[in-house]
Amino acid sequence: MARCFVTRRLPGDALGRLAAEHEVDVWPGRRPPAPAELRDRAASADGLLCLLTDRIDATLLAGCPNLRAVSNLAVGCDNVDVEAVRARDIALGYTPDVLTETTADLAFALILAAARRLPEGVAAVREGEWLTWEPGWLLGRDVHGATLGIVGLGRIGRAVARRAEGFGMTVVHSSSNDGLPLPDLLAAADFVSLHCPLTPHTRHLIGAAALAAMKPTAILVNTARGAIVDQRALAAALHTGTIAGAALDVTDPEPLPPGDALLEAPNLLVLPHLGSATHATRERMADLAVDNLLAALDGRPMPHAFAL
Ligand code: DGY
Repeated sequence: MARCFVTRRLPGDALGRLAAEHEVDVWPGRRPPAPAELRDRAASADGLLCLLTDRIDATLLAGCPNLRAVSNLAVGCDNVDVEAVRARDIALGYTPDVLTETTADLAFALILAAARRLPEGVAAVREGEWLTWEPGWLLGRDVHGATLGIVGLGRIGRAVARRAEGFGMTVVHSSSNDGLPLPDLLAAADFVSLHCPLTPHTRHLIGAAALAAMKPTAILVNTARGAIVDQRALAAALHTGTIAGAALDVTDPEPLPPGDALLEAPNLLVLPHLGSATHATRERMADLAVDNLLAALDGRPMPHAFAL
């Protein structure tokens, strides 16, 4: 029987399967363990099931001499120092595929919500600003027939592209094989949707220059990772009307403090990282994460091993 530390309660019964075979310590809070708490609780663990909010770095690993497996409940592993994991010969698992369609649904929801000004409409009804049917009130932008620029044509990017076809959109993308160079994509798109992983190469990929390359009528959508966008540059672009709007499911940092300057910007919609947040998908993610941990603790390859 191995010892496992799980950094948050999980939906579904996946943790029951883990607890049937191993000793499981589950962090009880809604907030992540602080780094020192994570170090303490993980110190004697053989297996760690963690979230994108937990920083798994060389310092943490140095304090976990028995650790054999890290199972990340996310498709993105930018919270893990992959080099440090590789150096210690620890298995690293992630949860691809099961969240693709759910995250694409949310990206499309953001496109529609921002284009048709849904948050403003909802607020207007609640605040008594709905006076009558006015021909020029709360006018938005058409999604059907518009051009969607997808930055990062991986699993989720392709799933968003499929949805866009149903809306009669023209889809352009920036993948290295047959895509457009990024400046051309930005200049062509009415909606720019980000789906690339966060890497040193993509950090602040969308900064002042990229925003200036977009149409002044365009809307930026980010369901990938917050740090792909330079948020200061985005706030400035929204204030000056360089672009028409932005809809973000991810920010840097997360959570975004309620007083953050970005939230002062006009035509901005921010969600609290809900991309994969459906009952079914989060249960599937938990299942995959537990499958990965069980396999590695049993000496088998993880079914969803992150390429180290
Ligand atoms: C992931 O898995 O990387 C998502 O951002 C969480 O849904």
